[in-house]
Amino acid sequence: MGVTRVNGTLPGPKGKELLERWHKYEADVVGFQAPVVWDHGRGVVVTDVDGNTFIDWTSGVLVTSVGHCHPHLVQAAQKASARLLNNYENASVERIEAAERLVKALPRHLDKCFFLSTGSEATEAAARLMKRKSGKYEILSFESGFHGRTTSAATMGGLPGPKKGYGPSLPGAIRVAFPNPYRDTLGFCDGDPEFKKYFAYLEYTIAANTTGSLGGVMVEPYQGTSGFIFPPKGWLKKLEEWTRRKGLLLAVDEVQASYGRTGKMWAIEHEDIKPDIITIGKAIGCGVPVSAVGATSEVFSCLSKGEMSSTLGGNPVASAAVCAVLDIYEKEKLVENSAKMGAYMLSKLKGMAEKCRYLGDVRGMGLVMGMEFVKDKGTKEPAPELIKPLIVDAANHGLLIGSVGFYGNVIRVGPPLVITQAEADESLAIMEGCLSRLKL
Ligand SMILES: Cc1ncc(COP(=O)(O)O)c(C=O)c1O
Repeated sequence: MGVTRVNGTLPGPKGKELLERWHKYEADVVGFQAPVVWDHGRGVVVTDVDGNTFIDWTSGVLVTSVGHCHPHLVQAAQKASARLLNNYENASVERIEAAERLVKALPRHLDKCFFLSTGSEATEAAARLMKRKSGKYEILSFESGFHGRTTSAATMGGLPGPKKGYGPSLPGAIRVAFPNPYRDTLGFCDGDPEFKKYFAYLEYTIAANTTGSLGGVMVEPYQGTSGFIFPPKGWLKKLEEWTRRKGLLLAVDEVQASYGRTGKMWAIEHEDIKPDIITIGKAIGCGVPVSAVGATSEVFSCLSKGEMSSTLGGNPVASAAVCAVLDIYEKEKLVENSAKMGAYMLSKLKGMAEKCRYLGDVRGMGLVMGMEFVKDKGTKEPAPELIKPLIVDAANHGLLIGSVGFYGNVIRVGPPLVITQAEADESLAIMEGCLSRLKL
């Protein structure tokens, strides 16, 4: 007996009524999701308002890494909220403890942090830090990257969604290609460990576009929103070396990649990268809104008092959540489970790709994986039209999945890091069934 149960076709009667009410009042402008009204969650299991139960491969959007409503986290947030809900720029015991705990958990060379509320706020802050520290205003970032929806974050990003129709991006952005092993149209993933072709292109593009004011580089360790594009091994290290040679600051956007998602606490650990700045979001609060920037004291010292601030950043509930999440990580060895269960699920999904004519590629690290759907494995023509039916079919069989991708043709696999072998097997069997029913 598994943990999933769906009665009839979704939405159920209560869910249907609630969805209609929702769309009457809140603008329906979010991405496509299965017609499920979430009621409560525990671990990897989400229950909807009609009592249907699902295994969640989304973790919200790579947020609830300790599992939904982990009792230790819930208790910590409840306890803090009963005493104080906001302290703005002032100290509180929770805030001080959260800063101390986070810095101890950061990669060793980073010795300071600052708390904010969202991932976009963190990437904006990183851009501001790079500009102030370098005294320059251009930032190099990557096509198909995603750093959030606020103006500076969207400018650094290279996806049409946050930009199209909104007029010119901010000046000072230089965007270059991100090497994509599955769609290597420019031949950057040709196996050369020095990536000579890539860096020649990089130099050329910068020379053609810079006004001479390049200050820093903003990069995701893998591109999540554009479809879980993992660059070839060694490329990030070479990029780091290149930034050092050029005297540029390096910021790595770990908003989604950190906290064990890739099988290491920080994704930069895979190649021993030492950026000047990292941005952290999502799993740092596992559902309680909190984000942070981590950097060296030297980098932070470029800001004078009052230059970085946030209405909600460092509030007691968020700060208590930071500590509780770290407690859970230490106690439950979630990073190790991510590496172990991730390798298991990846091998099973790769096996499914061999049998499914539309599943062109499966890739991942730890418990973050992408399943890219194509019309034809030879031409690799994207098949975004398969995604909605797949999301609905999966939900009707008890599995919650979401989609991403530059072409909208990638399913994201990112369950909470607490997933067990039995839950992995049950959810993989549901996915296998869905793939067998997939039709263009
Ligand atoms: C790498 C990365 N940076 C920044 C963000 C923006 O985070 P938020 O939606 O919390 O503003 C995201 C969100 O998906 C992300 O994946």
